[in-house]
This record gives sequence, structure tokens and C-alpha cells, in this order.
Amino acid sequence: MSKIQVKNWNDFCPQQLFLYGTYKEDGTPNFGLFCWFSYINAPDINGEGDGMGVMAAIGGEKLTKDLIRKNGVFSANLVTEELLPLADYCGIVGGREHEDKMHFSPTVEKGVVLDVPTIAESPVSMELKVMQEIHLGNGCDVFLCKIMGETMREDLANKDVPFIDRFKSVKQVLAGGEQHYVSTDGRDLGSWGEPMQNL
Ligand SMILES: Cc1cc2nc3c(=O)[nH]c(=O)nc-3n(C[C@H](O)[C@H](O)[C@H](O)COP(=O)(O)O)c2cc1C
Repeated sequence: MSKIQVKNWNDFCPQQLFLYGTYKEDGTPNFGLFCWFSYINAPDINGEGDGMGVMAAIGGEKLTKDLIRKNGVFSANLVTEELLPLADYCGIVGGREHEDKMHFSPTVEKGVVLDVPTIAESPVSMELKVMQEIHLGNGCDVFLCKIMGETMREDLANKDVPFIDRFKSVKQVLAGGEQHYVSTDGRDLGSWGEPMQNL
């Protein structure tokens, strides 16, 4: 099979979705939906040691970006099929434009290490501290962060259960191509803006 030349095409390289959680000035939480996220090696905050971090790309001006800059910390909560209607809503409805955005809200918990809101229904929550912000221009910014804390659904740590069975039990949602959500076992979970209709 020959290959054809394409431009800006990542449709067959899906990415996992995360809800980023930040606290607003009045102490209430805000969540936005993000997929331009990946892992990096990151030293400790003092520049020594080794560990895990993430890079989070945020394009354009939005409440999540405002609050990450202001607070220097945020959470990343893995999106599952159960969370998808709410996640879709948090990706379509802007927090700057809609002050009452979070009237649809997950069950919010406090981070175990950082002052960030996390989501009880999410099986994996990371607490992130920004180490560096890189401005690429035209509102495209990348935040390099250190994972300062992480919580995981207890049963996922049970190594008596084969890894693949625990993996399948998570039911992660991928940002597949052509603005569709896709399950990890290849089901179409609707196009952007559709799952939120079920809220
Ligand atoms: C499937 C999906 C993935 C998204 N991924 C990103 C992303 O990686 N980076 C980004 O800047 N915006 C992304 N967005 C858009 C934000 O979720 C959107 O701007 C939202 O309003 C952010 O919430 P906020 O306005 O409360 O900050 C995505 C939206 C959807 C529907």
C-alpha cells in the first residue's frame, strides 16, 4: 500500500483526554477538556533528581490558561466513558464566556499534595506544578509541569488481576480523528458536542 502526502493530520494518532482542574479566585473549581498532553522526564523542582512530568499545550486564551498562569498548579483527570458527557460539555462551553459553566460538575475532591480540584469519578488524577511556560506565538503556549502527586482508583493497583483486565476496566476515551470520540476498543462515542446532550 503506498502512502499519500498529508498536512497537519493526526487523525490516526489518537490522544487521551483529560479534564484540567483549576481553582477560580472565589475558590470554586473550573474544569476544561484537553488532549494535547504527553509525558516527559522531569527533574525535581530544585532541578535535581529524575521523575515524571507532562507537557500541556493550550491554544488561545481561555479560563483554564488564565488560572494555570495565576495559580501555577492544576490537576489532570483522565476521562472515561462515564465522564464523557460532562467532559464534552467542559470542552465546548468556555469558562470565560459562561460564569455558571460549572453548574454541571463532577464530584470535586481536594488534591492530596497541591491545592487543586480533582475529580472523584476519574480513575487517575495528577497534580501538576508548572515549571516553565513556552510561548510559541499566536496564542500557542506549552506548559512543562512536574507531577507532584497522583491518585489512582484502588483496584487498579491490585497486581493479582492481570494488567490488561485492569486496563480494560478503565474505559478511557480517545480524541480520535475527524472530531470524534473513540473508545479504546474501537467504538465511535459520538462527535464533539454530541455526548453533552445526555447531561
Ligand atoms: C475533544 C476536545 C479536546 C480539546 N483539547 C484541547 C487542547 O488540547 N488544548 C486546548 O487549548 N484546547 C482544547 N480543547 C478546547 C477547550 O476544552 C475549550 O477551550 C474549553 O472552553 C476550555 O475550558 P475553559 O474555557 O473553562 O478554560 C479541546 C476541546 C475538545 C472538545
